[in-house]
Formats: sequence, structure tokens, C-alpha cells
Amino acid sequence: MSNRVSPDDDAALINVVNEAYSQKARVECTDRDHFDRVANAFGYTPEQLQSVSAEAHMGLSCGNPMAAASIKEGETVLDLGSGGGIDVFLAAAKVGPSGQAIGLDNSDDMIARARRIATTKGLKPPNVAFVKATLTEELPIENNSVDCVLSNCVINLLPPAGKLKVMQEVHRILKSGGRVSLDDIVAKKPFPESLRSNVAAYVSCISGAILLQEYQALVEDAGFKDIIFMENPSDLNVYLDSGSTGCCSRESSAIFIPTDIGDLNELAASYHIYATKANSSAATNSAPASALKNWWDAYPIPASSASSLECAEVADLIKNSGLEKRDFVVVDVRRNDHAGGHVRGSIQQPAQTFYDGLPMFYEQHKETKQVILYCGSSHGRGPRCAKWYQDYLDQQRNTESKAFWMTGGAKEWVASYKGRGDLVDFD
Ligand SMILES: C[S@@+](CC[C@H](N)C(=O)[O-])C[C@H]1O[C@@H](n2cnc3c(N)ncnc32)[C@H](O)[C@@H]1O
Repeated sequence: MSNRVSPDDDAALINVVNEAYSQKARVECTDRDHFDRVANAFGYTPEQLQSVSAEAHMGLSCGNPMAAASIKEGETVLDLGSGGGIDVFLAAAKVGPSGQAIGLDNSDDMIARARRIATTKGLKPPNVAFVKATLTEELPIENNSVDCVLSNCVINLLPPAGKLKVMQEVHRILKSGGRVSLDDIVAKKPFPESLRSNVAAYVSCISGAILLQEYQALVEDAGFKDIIFMENPSDLNVYLDSGSTGCCSRESSAIFIPTDIGDLNELAASYHIYATKANSSAATNSAPASALKNWWDAYPIPASSASSLECAEVADLIKNSGLEKRDFVVVDVRRNDHAGGHVRGSIQQPAQTFYDGLPMFYEQHKETKQVILYCGSSHGRGPRCAKWYQDYLDQQRNTESKAFWMTGGAKEWVASYKGRGDLVDFD
């Protein structure tokens, strides 16, 4: 990585930040002392830290946005730049099974890390979801769907235009009366060009920080009200205070502070920022069931390209076999439409829960030669589930079984074989 980046080159800034945090996410650290010191310094209580997996808190925070967020059971909470997921997991415990806690981050490695932790805790979408998203772009979240937005030491990392864009997006996705509870680094004075272009200082959350007045204007311009900026009484030099070696050493610490930067407290400070979206009399109570625009964003993008079979090929398989001793299985991944007409003998396994159920599904079907999945027209859910299953088969090194999706899906099947009781079923 080069030592310098142009502070006006948005794509380059996003890229260096992504590289730095992805590298951080890939490293496993066994010495937790430094991370605990950082987390304690920025307001996490020992109880909070003990309640989440050690891997989820990575010494990357500059506050504790949960402290002022007053999260309640059943609420929908979104964390911007969720990293290892510390604030998402804390929020998940508050919202409970009837709520949603969603983390957004643009680092594949961070998302993978947070998802791994969620899996070990038995937390899964839609209740707890980690979704890849770049915060400077439109967020993959529905309008008026979120009760509270959190963010911890992230907005400073966005290029100037991205800072306003994300606040506007936060305003769009919050419900009427919703709130935003952020912690971030704020500059105490204008930075010289040499500091602004210093990559290490930028990815360390220093160089991209803006002045208090600029930040206040940004939150106002995005449409918020009841805006509070409160300086956190934290010592930023705690980032430098790592006596550890190995992955927790200063060089590879979250914060890649350059050695010649001096006293961080003279340059910047940590602030808590709280604001609300005005109550709107026009707003309805009909928030969408899930805040995510696409439920599948909470799952990995399939790596394999499963094969397809045409309806006629599947029909031949069925015609040439009895219901007993089949070496294929047909799976309807639609949630509600099974009774509207389906492949006779197909089992139902809704796509929305298919990924989470893969291990059990595999145990049931690992010796079945052809696993054929379909949805309404097999443009989306059918192929996606087939690819996820093929990925799983590949991981298990199972070459005996193969995943397919049926082209045309239920629509083509019912249209082609209506009246054929041996092929179509409506139960
Ligand atoms: C300093 S870390 C904070 C992580 C987490 N909030 C915490 O407190 O532990 C910044 C996080 O923001 C993410 N991030 C930075 N720039 C981003 C962008 N443009 N879009 C999405 N995520 C971004 C990074 O990948 C990283 O996980």
C-alpha cells in the first residue's frame, strides 16, 4: 500500500480503507488486552464486552453508540460500518427475536468474520444480518424501515461527499421519529495537506475527520432535528498504547497510526452525535416486514454455477420413476405458492431459510444424485438455492450428488402439464 493518497480521490480513499480493514478482519488476535483497553476507554462496560464474542470487538471503536440509543425490544437497528459486529450483537440482545439488528460494511472479510460469529451464536437473518454495502452509495435498506441507526468510528473514513450522502440515506431509511446514535472522530483544527494525504493517518480515523461546524452543518443539511454533539471524555492516545506484540501490535492494530503524528488529542476528539428524524403526520405505521431490500443480501453470493434442467427433462425423470427409490429429488423453494400448483412429489423448502438449513438438507439428500430446485419462474430463488447447494456439495467434496435448477419454474410446469395428475399436484 502506498503511503500517500489524494484526499480528493474518493475511489482511492474507499479502496485504501477497504484494504486496511479487510486485512485487519483476516487476522485472529489472541491478546485481547489492547482491544479491551480501547473499548473501555471509549465507554463500553465490562458487562457489554463479556456479553459478545471476543472476535467481535476489535479495538476499532471510538465510542459506545449503544449507550445513548435506548434500544427496545422489537425494534429495527442498523449499524453503519459494523466491522466485527460488536454493536450489532449488543443491539441484537436488546431487540430480541422479534426485532432486527443489521450491520452494513463494505469489507468482504469483515462481513465474513461477523457472519461466522453470528453463526456460532445461533443468530441468523432476518433477526441478525450482516450485509455488504458501500456507505457512499444508496443503502440496500427500505425507506422508513429503521428505528435506530448506529455507527462507531466510520463516517470519518468516508470521502467528503460520501459523508453527506450517508446522512441523507440515514434520514431516508429511518422511520418517522427514528433516531441516529453515532460516535465519530471530529477534527479540532484544519489539517495540513501532508496529514490529509497520509494513508496511515487516514485509515486510522484521523485525517478524514472534519471540523465540528462542518459536521453539524452536514447533519442539519441531511434533514435531522434535535441534534446533539457531545465530546466524549476519551483519550485518543489509547490507540497508541499497545505494548503487545503480534497481531495486536501497533503496526497491525486497527489503528495504523503513523509514528510521527504526535499527540492525537491535539488534533481530534471523539464525539457522540445524536439526532432524530421529525415525526411526520403523513407517515403510516406500515413499516416493511424486513428493513432489507433483498433478503438474500444477508447471505453469501454463491460461488458455483449450478446446472439447469428443462421442465421436459424433469418430467421425463418423474415419468420414468416411481415415487419409491428415486435417485433425484425436486424441491419447491417458494414460500407460499405450493398449493397453487407444483411438481408432483416435490418437497417444500422456502428459499428465505434455505441457506441456514443447508447442513440438515445435506444430511437428508447427500446420496441423492440430482437435487432439482425451482421457484415461480426460476429466475431468482431457484438458481440461487441451487448454487448455494452446489457450493455446499463442493465444500463437502461430494461429487456423487449435483444441484440443478429447473428452468421456467412452477409457472412453466403448470402451464405445460395442467391436467396431468401424474405431474402436477395442488395439495
Ligand atoms: C474503524 S472500523 C469500526 C468498526 C466497528 N464499527 C467497531 O466499532 O468495531 C470502520 C469500519 O467501517 C468499514 N467501512 C469503512 N469505509 C466504509 C465504506 N465506505 N462503506 C462501508 N463500510 C466502510 C470498515 O470496513 C470497518 O469495518
